[in-house]
Amino acid sequence: MEDTETNRIRVIVADDDEGLLKLVSRELTGKGFTCETVSDGAAAAAAMDRTEFDVALLDIEMPELDGFQVLAIIREKHPETIPVILTGKGDIPRAVKAMKLGAFDFLEKPCNPHLLENAIRRADEYRRARMHARKMEAVADETRTALKLERAINQAQKLESVGRLAAGIAHEINTPAQYVGDNLEFLLSAHGDIVALMDLFRRIMESPAADALPPDLLKEARDRNDKARFDYLAHEIPRAIAQSIEGIGRISSIVQAMKEFSHPGVAEKTLADINHCVESTVTVSRNEWKYVADLETDLDPELPRILCLPGELNQVFLNLIVNAAHAIGDVVGDGSETKGRITISTRRDGDWVEIRVADTGAGIPEDIRDRIFDPFFTTKEVGKGTGQGLAIARNVVVDKHGGTIACDSETGVGTTFIIRLPIGE
Ligand SMILES: Nc1ncnc2c1ncn2[C@@H]1O[C@H](COP(=O)(O)OP(=O)(O)OP(=O)(O)O)[C@@H](O)[C@H]1O
Ligand SMILES: [Mg+2]
Repeated sequence: MEDTETNRIRVIVADDDEGLLKLVSRELTGKGFTCETVSDGAAAAAAMDRTEFDVALLDIEMPELDGFQVLAIIREKHPETIPVILTGKGDIPRAVKAMKLGAFDFLEKPCNPHLLENAIRRADEYRRARMHARKMEAVADETRTALKLERAINQAQKLESVGRLAAGIAHEINTPAQYVGDNLEFLLSAHGDIVALMDLFRRIMESPAADALPPDLLKEARDRNDKARFDYLAHEIPRAIAQSIEGIGRISSIVQAMKEFSHPGVAEKTLADINHCVESTVTVSRNEWKYVADLETDLDPELPRILCLPGELNQVFLNLIVNAAHAIGDVVGDGSETKGRITISTRRDGDWVEIRVADTGAGIPEDIRDRIFDPFFTTKEVGKGTGQGLAIARNVVVDKHGGTIACDSETGVGTTFIIRLPIGE
């Protein structure tokens, strides 16, 4: 800390030569420095533990701890103090050793008072400059974090509007999908009637009674019958319609899942079926995982509904599924023949609902496991990850639901995230 009252430079002088101590002390005090003197290295270390000094002026040969040992202590425990060596034995190897141990300057006895004063002032200037640089670094760090935060907020806002848009689009698609489905059902049943009718006409045409018809009409009827390949149509049309009904059914369920998934976050908790949340999230995220993994669900049919924020939990499940897909993608590569597996299971455990998302990715290296929930911690390249997925997941699960989120990972085998949510009343 600065001595702001007088702005005096605080110097500690360590030397076993009493006479020199007195001399230096008088000199330095006379020049306006605050000065404390000690006669050995251990006393210097003890004094620095008690008080903060700006500059330490150290002899090398001292009882207890020598100057080199004190340099090492300063480097480890008092990096804010700048050490300067003042010695009677000023050979080059000692000077080099002192510099390596962090000495800022190396002076030889007897030292001219003017040189001594200059050396101490330079050491203090260096100390101030370094402190200033550290402060600037801290400011730069804060700025970087603020920028990241701003980008994250922008992204969240963008996602929110995309979500709202998606909910609107889902709603718009729902209506036409519904009447296309109804019409297909109608065509399928009408087709049966038409086939029965056509069959009757054909029988009439082929009966002897048909000879009573005008020959032109009969010929046209037979030509058209041949051209239309009626048996083929009778067989293929209902198949085409049935396929279309199945397709429109899939569109409807995706749209429904999208509507549920992107339902604007309600502030109030509602009773919701976690299995249903998992299923709709799996549906909307299909494109994220289908190229790298098969996804299996094992959902407890007896799972009780719980009071929760379903929109936010959907987001959590999505983050975990995307992470799992990325982890597997890193192992199997894109467009690979062999796929990994994502398994999502739910079960009741006493007063808790437990959701597990397991993958067969590479696992999380042990040395980063305790950082994965930190905001902005990511190992992914720019554009693929911003390091927020798990921070958001923890916030939603722990802070908003009083639940827990943990991870169990084995390198080379895979990772399982385990979420536990209280069932509540
Ligand atoms: N299933 C997993 N397997 C292996 N590593 C994982 C898994 N899930 C998370 N990680 C590691 O944890 C880090 C943090 O994950 P998190 O979801 O918070 O951020 P991200 O996926 O990097 O980016 P974002 O989710 O914001 O797009 C990841 O970068 C990755 O290193
Ligand atoms: Mg993620």
